[in-house]
Amino acid sequence: MSITADVIQKDKQFSVPVAGRPDFVLERGEGVTVYDADGKAYTDWVAGIAVNSLGYGDKELMDVVAKQMSTGLIHVSGLYHTQALTDLAELLCANSFADKAYFCNSGAEANEGALKFARKLAYVNEHKNKTKVVSFSKAFHGRTLGALSVTPTEKYQTPFKPMVPGAVVGEFDNIDSARELIDQDTVAVIVEPIQGEGGINLASAEFLRALRQLCDEHEAVLIFDEIQCGMGRTGELWAHTSSGVSPDIMTLAKPLAGGLPIGAILVTEEVGGAMQPGDHGSTFSGGAVVMRAGEMVVKRILSPGFLEHVKEVGDYLLERLEEINSPHITDVRGRGLMAAIEISVPPADIVAQGYEHGLLLVNSGPDAIRFIPPLIIEKQHVDELVEKLTQILEGIQNES
Ligand SMILES: Cc1ncc(COP(=O)(O)O)c(C=O)c1O
Repeated sequence: MSITADVIQKDKQFSVPVAGRPDFVLERGEGVTVYDADGKAYTDWVAGIAVNSLGYGDKELMDVVAKQMSTGLIHVSGLYHTQALTDLAELLCANSFADKAYFCNSGAEANEGALKFARKLAYVNEHKNKTKVVSFSKAFHGRTLGALSVTPTEKYQTPFKPMVPGAVVGEFDNIDSARELIDQDTVAVIVEPIQGEGGINLASAEFLRALRQLCDEHEAVLIFDEIQCGMGRTGELWAHTSSGVSPDIMTLAKPLAGGLPIGAILVTEEVGGAMQPGDHGSTFSGGAVVMRAGEMVVKRILSPGFLEHVKEVGDYLLERLEEINSPHITDVRGRGLMAAIEISVPPADIVAQGYEHGLLLVNSGPDAIRFIPPLIIEKQHVDELVEKLTQILEGIQNES
């Protein structure tokens, strides 16, 4: 039996079937390309779901991880100091609105923690009625119960009800809807400045400003979830920067440690000051190897020319996607290397055809294909993508 057939058969037998995986087995990666067990190459427009910003096989990242491993200190738990943890916390605070950072292991865990931090601030301030959390249509904040409660997608929530009480949903990017919901009982408002899973939807600066104002008026905590849109993906370090609005909490995860599991909760002095030893924690919080990887990734993203590259190739991507002349494309949107085409055919069909053409693609919501590649991708890869997408869409045209 081939490696591919063997792995697929064993996956069916031994893995909980929560993901529908295609019929190939990935074996190695280099730059923006991954290779399967039969040696077939795929240009990666998914990057492990907006994670592998530095692509595959980045020498500096591998060296930093190996160096920390060689000290023997992989993990010590949150009970002890390491310089690796304070170095990353200091670096993130120096380059954001935040005064303090807390580290965890995933995006869902970061949002779960952010909601707890907001509740603790209300508790300390003796705001007993503050139980309401406002999120927005098409949001995605994660799959744990707190994060899922503010992820208003029926098919994700229904089998797992009841949700955490207090979650209410406004319309994304609609100021009137936010104004109706945010009141004295609101403990937190959580929003993605650019929605990732929900279709690459951009919040306007006016919307983010209105949220800031409403949260100030009603003493609610404003949480920006930059887990997918942050860390350089838009061509700026943070997706919210251009709005001029500062949150009270920002959550990060995905690309922060170059593919190692990480989450981060960045907070103001006021939010951080409400937390006391014992209030929150996780065994794996702030592991030294992960922290060193994170420090290296942030430094690379901040290095001269890196964000300019993302902006330049991102602009080129949007421009070239807009040039595709297909009746199946109903919209093109995005910022930086976070883009999508809305389509009138099932995204799964395009994703499947992509595999045949040597492309890794992923949907975003029920009617869009999103492009969230490694941030080192080049214009030549954009040209390859557009050429292949055009062929795929023409093939569908001919079939229908
Ligand atoms: C904006 C956003 N928040 C939270 C999450 C959840 O992150 P994780 O899958 O690491 O739990 C995701 C994952 O796709 C995300 O895109």
